[in-house]
Amino acid sequence: MIKVALPKGRIAQQTLEIFEKYLNTKLVFEDRKLILSYDNFTFMLVRNQDVPIYIQRGAADIGVVGLDVLEEKESPLVRLLDLEFGKCKIAIGSPKDYVLDFSNPHLKIATKLENITKKFFNKKALSVDIIKLYGSIELAPLVGMADAIVDLVETGDTMKQNNLKIDAIIMEISAYLVANRNSFYEKKEEILKLHEFFKNHIKE
Ligand code: PRP
Repeated sequence: MIKVALPKGRIAQQTLEIFEKYLNTKLVFEDRKLILSYDNFTFMLVRNQDVPIYIQRGAADIGVVGLDVLEEKESPLVRLLDLEFGKCKIAIGSPKDYVLDFSNPHLKIATKLENITKKFFNKKALSVDIIKLYGSIELAPLVGMADAIVDLVETGDTMKQNNLKIDAIIMEISAYLVANRNSFYEKKEEILKLHEFFKNHIKE
């Protein structure tokens, strides 16, 4: 039995399409149901940020999650494969007419990615004041609460429509196939078979 944690939304859908080929069946969650079993597999739908904890605690053996979540939570999971979808970037942004001065020790940065932001500025030996938010990050500099933001950028539309520009790219993000360390050893054969299949089907 392999238990699979998937992040609700488009990434779950794209992953299920690969599993459909692997299992040669349609995989559809009924209405509001969060769990689906077929053959030797159980699929569960969880919030994106919760994928690592389900796998860490062994409630799931494997799963799919964005590199942003893995890096932010420093999750001790086996990174099996870059699935090359769910692509976006983590960027620093600030108002169009603002000159971002990284050497300003009072720089206020709003973000939901607190750890990634800390690591980025620590590495540069820069001190910043990090303001942790949970969403609508782009609003913070518009109302004077922050000088800049660190956030995910996919199409760039949210930044553009809120008169923000990208000052720097911190990291390129995509979805990863990951595994619980124990599951990886105990169910190695099945997981490696799956890994091989995913590797050959991610670009289709
Ligand atoms: C994410 C991210 C940006 C937006 C970027 O937010 O935090 O706000 O998407 O996408 P774009 O470059 O294609 O415009 P999300 O929609 O997850 O909502 P949130 O503000 O609640 O985090």
